[in-house]
Amino acid sequence: MPIIVSVGSGKGGTGKSLVASNVAAILSAKGENVYLLDLDVGGADAHVLYGLFKTEHTLTDFLSGRISHLDEVATTLQSFHGLKLIVGTGETLRTANMPYGTKKRLIKQIRHLSADIVIVDVGAGTNLNTLDFFIASDIQVCVSTLDPTSILDFYRFLKLATIRKVLSSFLARDEVTKAISQRDFQKIDEVLEFADKVKPGAGEVAKRALEDFTPALILNQVRSGNSAMDRIKLKHVVTRFLGIELPELGVIPWDEKVIEAIRSYMPVVEYAPESKASLALRDVGRSLLALINKKRAEMER
Ligand SMILES: Nc1ncnc2c1ncn2[C@@H]1O[C@H](COP(=O)(O)OP(=O)(O)OP(=O)(O)O)[C@@H](O)[C@H]1O
Ligand SMILES: [Mg+2]
Repeated sequence: MPIIVSVGSGKGGTGKSLVASNVAAILSAKGENVYLLDLDVGGADAHVLYGLFKTEHTLTDFLSGRISHLDEVATTLQSFHGLKLIVGTGETLRTANMPYGTKKRLIKQIRHLSADIVIVDVGAGTNLNTLDFFIASDIQVCVSTLDPTSILDFYRFLKLATIRKVLSSFLARDEVTKAISQRDFQKIDEVLEFADKVKPGAGEVAKRALEDFTPALILNQVRSGNSAMDRIKLKHVVTRFLGIELPELGVIPWDEKVIEAIRSYMPVVEYAPESKASLALRDVGRSLLALINKKRAEMER
């Protein structure tokens, strides 16, 4: 079974596609059998980042039932060590309206892809499907910049993902799920206390669901003007209010070469391998592979 890595963010344009497409290329160059699945709604663009404008199949073929195996809608990129790409569909895919059964079927089939690693770009924002695809993975990666609006959206995204993770330990019709879904919370502790009030013992169940929920953070488009204090504050807020760890997977500088690479339809790690962004992305690739290997070891146990 593959290790599934999801990439999300609160705000659009932070660098999810940059991270997902480059890390996918890096890991497949290391000999891993990698699938990149682009669930980004409207902004499905991963294929363009590899210079691919049209593919024989898209995710729509699977979602509409025309093709029953997810594997069959993948396109193999020979020039990227056989990396497999499942492209999103922009205009036709509305994950916001994806029926529950379709979502379940998609999540199940992602688990059964004949891959070592599946990287899922879940797109930006906090609609329920996005959150569900984000938490359904083995390793969650979130991308933020240090702009104040990006940080706010990032916090909101992570808070809602954490609550969604709590809810995943209860049945959809459970009274706890219903009660939690109808309220807004500032801190995760409040959620746990509230769950316990609704149903004694539920707080403990919820807490257990969060035990190995440790999304990793990638800071992108970091400029020399960004202070180390901003980073510390960001992590502090998350630990204090959400009560979850937020390990840092990497820091990618703002780099003109990223923009040139996109204009040349190439991942920056191929276009300008020695650029600052590429060096940082390769560090991210190494750290991510270490996390993946740790998960593999856990799963074998
Ligand atoms: N490290 C960087 N240096 C310079 N520019 C960058 C960097 N990262 C991203 N960008 C710019 O930001 C744009 C958005 O990046 P990207 O498409 O990866 O974000 P995204 O999170 O996938 O966006 P969306 O939410 O719209 O899918 C890029 O097209 C590029 O112009
Ligand atoms: Mg994107």
